Amino acid sequence: MQLKKNKFIAGEDRRKAEALLEKMTFQEKLGQLVLVCGYGEAHPDQIRKGLIGGFLMLYGVDKTNEIQKIALEESRLGIPMIFGFDVIHGFRTMFPIPLATAASWDMKRIRQAESIAAREAYAAGINWIYAPMVDLCREPRWGRIAECAGEDPFLGCCVAQARVEGFQTVNPETGYFYTGACFKHYAGYGLSEGGRDYETTDISERTLHGEYMKPYQAAVNAGAVSAMSSFNCLNGEPVSGSRRYLTDILRGDYGFEGFVVSDWDSVMELIHHRVAADRKDAARIGMRAGCDMDMNSRVYIENLEELVNEDPSLLDAINESVVRILTVKYKLGLFDNPYRAADGEKIFVNPEFRAVARDVSAHSMVLLKNENQALPLRKEKKYLVTGPLADAVGENLGMWSFTGEEKDVVNFLSAFQKEKVRYEYIKGCHFDGDDQSEFEKAKRLAGECDGILYVCGEPHGWSGEARSRVDIDLPPIQNQYLELLASAGKPIVSVVMTGRPLACTKLDALSDAVLLAWHAGIEAGPAVCDCLFGRHNPCGKLPATFPRATGQIPIFYSKLSSGRPDTNVHNRYVDCPPTPLYPFGHGLSYAEFVYSDLRIENAVPASNGVLHVSVQVKNNSAVDGYEVVQVYFKDIVSTYATPDRKLCDFEKVFVPANSSVSVSFDIPCERFALMTPELKEIVEPGDFLLYVGGSSQAETVAEFRVEK
Ligand code: BGC
Repeated sequence: MQLKKNKFIAGEDRRKAEALLEKMTFQEKLGQLVLVCGYGEAHPDQIRKGLIGGFLMLYGVDKTNEIQKIALEESRLGIPMIFGFDVIHGFRTMFPIPLATAASWDMKRIRQAESIAAREAYAAGINWIYAPMVDLCREPRWGRIAECAGEDPFLGCCVAQARVEGFQTVNPETGYFYTGACFKHYAGYGLSEGGRDYETTDISERTLHGEYMKPYQAAVNAGAVSAMSSFNCLNGEPVSGSRRYLTDILRGDYGFEGFVVSDWDSVMELIHHRVAADRKDAARIGMRAGCDMDMNSRVYIENLEELVNEDPSLLDAINESVVRILTVKYKLGLFDNPYRAADGEKIFVNPEFRAVARDVSAHSMVLLKNENQALPLRKEKKYLVTGPLADAVGENLGMWSFTGEEKDVVNFLSAFQKEKVRYEYIKGCHFDGDDQSEFEKAKRLAGECDGILYVCGEPHGWSGEARSRVDIDLPPIQNQYLELLASAGKPIVSVVMTGRPLACTKLDALSDAVLLAWHAGIEAGPAVCDCLFGRHNPCGKLPATFPRATGQIPIFYSKLSSGRPDTNVHNRYVDCPPTPLYPFGHGLSYAEFVYSDLRIENAVPASNGVLHVSVQVKNNSAVDGYEVVQVYFKDIVSTYATPDRKLCDFEKVFVPANSSVSVSFDIPCERFALMTPELKEIVEPGDFLLYVGGSSQAETVAEFRVEK
């Protein structure tokens, strides 16, 4: 995987924006900083006066065209509106949740899904998307882990780039992007303490800059036109009021030229953080920090005039913010192409998009366990289909799916019915509570079948914003029901729908096979059946560790070694094994892949050079399959502690049955860098190990040396 630098270059668009600024009154300038939620009675008049710059949570071309017409034809300068929306995993064609698509490790498919999301959003009048969410997260109690790409910085960077490129697909008819991306939540929001949403964050500068900041940088490098400032504090500074983060680092160090929008009310919330005395103080701090646009709270429009009267130097900051916002409006072509076709929405959920959704869903699913050849299913057998989510419809849509429609969903039960396999169905239990009224009947039905398909997990409302959990196992009733099913003595295949990693240790122990389906969108049912019946050979790999117990959190594969690394003796829990339930990068296949001939072509590259690596991957089975070939490195001795393993490259390859492919990697040595306590990234000359394989526990290893 190569990370690109396609940075957004403001260039000519910025010159146009500066020229327009010259014509604007002070009030019109403030208007550009205002982002309003919804459309009310007072708004047409405010638009005419130039007092609103954009809307969020508003879509549908009738509305957006009507508003745009007022802005263009009835306001003095005719500046178009920007319409923003949270298109987190599809607009009408709902794809799997972002954590799931990250599990595909498939940048082509991720780009394709986001491009469809952008095209549908565009057709609905939206031109600005509040995604990708690129917060690195090692805290599965936090419900918003569902929105991100998991725990690893390198995977996070690749996914950030692919999503930005997908949203910012160029519309061939106009030459402009369908939509502008807004990466979020800059910075460090995924560190919310205790997994409680909006909570403070506390982290070493070394880990912050060496790991957590990387995906934001990747989004900047991929050319994202905007960024959203986060709710949390870093070093006691709420980021939405931090000049250090929003200006010095984001613009100074990373070279970001787009604009920053606050998160919902996050400038006003500086008051709740108690770094601002009141709304006026909050507006001053936010504007001084470089937070260009105020989402919802209106503290800028209410207070900036008075603040400029008190301190005229603030006008420079306001002018700069206005220019940045207008630059993006030019960049997105809103001046040239402000209206959307009335019939554009006919592209929604068309057969082509649906086919992509099914394919992306199947590629996102992870086969966590498969013993006793429980999978693939056999058509001649009879199955008991059961569990709280087997007949669920809306749950498949996942969190952040306001624009998704239940009528578009093909759920598991209806897809399974089309398979022409004999089956019995009983729900058996709800996802929570203590109703056991169907237990006995379920046990009897299980006895009459050859195998059990248990569709369990979390409802979609248990992940997403403000949806933290204190215990990330399945709710007790689901484990009790599984125990009852297990007592029937039939093979159990569990299909798990979830928005987060689960500590589903009992489920693992009692199931012969476990397929992780996530919340997989409108084609969830067909995609699960494709995996279960082997039409699609599962190939997803976990983007985040699954713990055995909630109490193991934080648990992630790339931690630093301790002084007493023997986890059986020292660094251990007395009541739980030290290992995860399923490690990062884990995911099985119906094929069997064997790695050999790991070669490092230039075993001694320079620290600014490239390491050339190749490996043979053999498919020792009679079925075709995709394998995500993962490359990890270990710096054997370094001045500062480094992880035992760290992902530095990967490639998803197709390996036909009974054949081999050679996979090569050109890994820039800068990926072997460590961060010093002074926050300098350096590649220390010395010896390294390289591990290549199908998970973070890859065993094929070779040694190389980096020279000065
Ligand atoms: C969320 C953002 C979202 C915004 C607008 C906030 O509460 O944190 O992720 O983009 O609302 O909907």
